[in-house]
Amino acid sequence: MQQPVRIAPSILSADFARLGEEVRAIDAAGADWIHVDVMDGHFVPNITIGPGVVKALRAHTDKPFDVHLMISPVDPFLEAFAEAGADTITVHPEAGPHLHRTLQAIKALGKRAGVSLNPATPAKMLDYVLEEVDLVLVMSVNPGFGGQSFIESQLGKIEAIRNRIEKLGKPIDLEVDGGIDAATAARAIGAGADVLVAGTATFRGGPDAYAANIAALRAS
Ligand code: DX5
Ligand code: ZN
Repeated sequence: MQQPVRIAPSILSADFARLGEEVRAIDAAGADWIHVDVMDGHFVPNITIGPGVVKALRAHTDKPFDVHLMISPVDPFLEAFAEAGADTITVHPEAGPHLHRTLQAIKALGKRAGVSLNPATPAKMLDYVLEEVDLVLVMSVNPGFGGQSFIESQLGKIEAIRNRIEKLGKPIDLEVDGGIDAATAARAIGAGADVLVAGTATFRGGPDAYAANIAALRAS
């Protein structure tokens, strides 16, 4: 069942020099989850933050940490992110080599497991793992950077995955990430998404605007 929409601001668009304060500000402004984009300069063409930063941020909020790992290999780092305080750990099938094993490892660490599909990655990648996951993350931009434009073709993929989740009858979250603003949020929700990641649309205008920015996404 499509659940009430949850908003997961991506701290990729926060002021990295004041990250703790930024996390407290989006918590107070109504964020449901904190989305953490981890990039390695290899799987994606950008480098962001590691488990040490996640651990340091853990003291700044009680909201769930939604950790999106865009790194390869990924298995050697799962434990560090789990210990740092991740609640959901999401991986890309291409991070390899064995997606099913990676998902089992995340669950063995006591964390929720997610799979993320890049724009060119078909929903078919979920065929033998959907039952194992707590969350599916549809990338509506190519991973690596905030501030990119929403890729329309991903709406069809969101619809297809929503249908599969309904057939399965499990409460799997369907999250969309990239180019989300009030207009694209409404379309993604219409297609079946129930978690919205938003970097640019949350952080634009500075701390005084965060609550209104998050409310605008929720209202969509
Ligand atoms: C992209 C990241 C996204 C990104 C979203 O690789 O996974 O979470 O920060 O940023 P916006 O909302 O600015 O498109
Ligand atoms: Zn992300």
